Amino acid sequence: MVACRACGTPVEKFMSFGRQPIANRFLEPGDTQSEYFFEMEVGTCAKCTLFQLIEQPDPEMMFHDTYAFFSQTSKGMQAHFEGFATYVKDTFLKGDDPFVVEIGSNDGIMLRHFLAAGIRHLGVEPSSNVADAARQAGIDTISVFFGVDTAAAIAEERGLADAIFAANVICHIPDIAGVARGVARLLKPTGVFVFEDPYLGDVLEKTSYDQIYDEHVFLFSALSVRNAFAPHGLELIDCIPQPTHGGSMRYVLGRQGQHPVSERVSERVAWEEARGLGRAETFQEFARACERSRDALVSLLKELKESGKKVVGYAATSKSTTVLNYCGIGPDLISYISDTTPIKQGRLSPGMHIPVRPYADFLADKPDYAVLFAWNHRNEIMAKEEGYMQRGGKWIRFVPDVGIE
Ligand code: TYD
Repeated sequence: MVACRACGTPVEKFMSFGRQPIANRFLEPGDTQSEYFFEMEVGTCAKCTLFQLIEQPDPEMMFHDTYAFFSQTSKGMQAHFEGFATYVKDTFLKGDDPFVVEIGSNDGIMLRHFLAAGIRHLGVEPSSNVADAARQAGIDTISVFFGVDTAAAIAEERGLADAIFAANVICHIPDIAGVARGVARLLKPTGVFVFEDPYLGDVLEKTSYDQIYDEHVFLFSALSVRNAFAPHGLELIDCIPQPTHGGSMRYVLGRQGQHPVSERVSERVAWEEARGLGRAETFQEFARACERSRDALVSLLKELKESGKKVVGYAATSKSTTVLNYCGIGPDLISYISDTTPIKQGRLSPGMHIPVRPYADFLADKPDYAVLFAWNHRNEIMAKEEGYMQRGGKWIRFVPDVGIE
């Protein structure tokens, strides 16, 4: 048994998604021989309930200098981050000359709103290619991993922070206790730590197991966040559901006793307890639901292939890596995946080696079916793809169930 990364208690394993590659490592066609794989198993901590990967590749393998994820690729996410920045500014930055720190600031999609408002800011972003993009836009950014040493260095050079925030980042950092210590070191006495990540409650409700991949070492709940940060003097003071990534939660923490605690916290924790988010049986049922989803998707794709239909994938998301490798779906069932990110195009999908092609190919090619891998951007995509649907193109969905529409 492995020890919980937050509290050291043994983690109970309940499921394996088999051999998985690095979800965001799209390969050059000649590079498939040396590909790295790991056994992707998940479990929960019996004490603090934190849902986590059992084994995770070295972070250097995942967040390298050709890291393929640029936040600004989706319009919906740009609007969301503007809203997140406004929430932090309007709710928490009431004092003079505030200072904010973003952990995992990517290409500066959120910090640019603080830059525009003349607010002192610092981005901490280990992937140097995305950090460079942020710096070019004038956003103050350092390329290091966040932990207690980084926090101490920032505090000494620039002072304590009014707000520390992160979006889709904290669930990536295995040393969660190190993050908590870093936040506790860097935060002003009245400061807040605000972060959001895909929500375990949504993953269980929708069987959206594709949220589980190498980078997502944790899937948080209000219960597990409260338990993981409390030993570091940080109290969960609010939790606000978000529509992003197919269902996320924004957690707000402050130093113990410094802020009123929203009723949303006790309501959410009560819901999670009733839903069984800390119980082994809940996860055993989730494992069975994943197997049913896998079997249904594979049968559907095989049927379509047998009837001679042309099936492609829509968006080479990180999430799709879990689905394709867990289900064993390769180029025989999905001929290519269309994606708008230039550095993914011309490459092969991790593990199953499905070619990734430019979006223009999807438009020109008129496939019969497209598997909607970016289901979390559904509204944006449906609005954009009216032409595809009008000429008879169909979608294959696998969340919350497998079907054609
Ligand atoms: P996202 O859901 O952010 O993926 P991840 O699972 O990696 O977090 O989707 C980003 C990817 O989807 C990116 O490679 C671009 C691609 N994409 C398209 O190709 N077309 C689209 O219309 C959208 C919204 C995304």
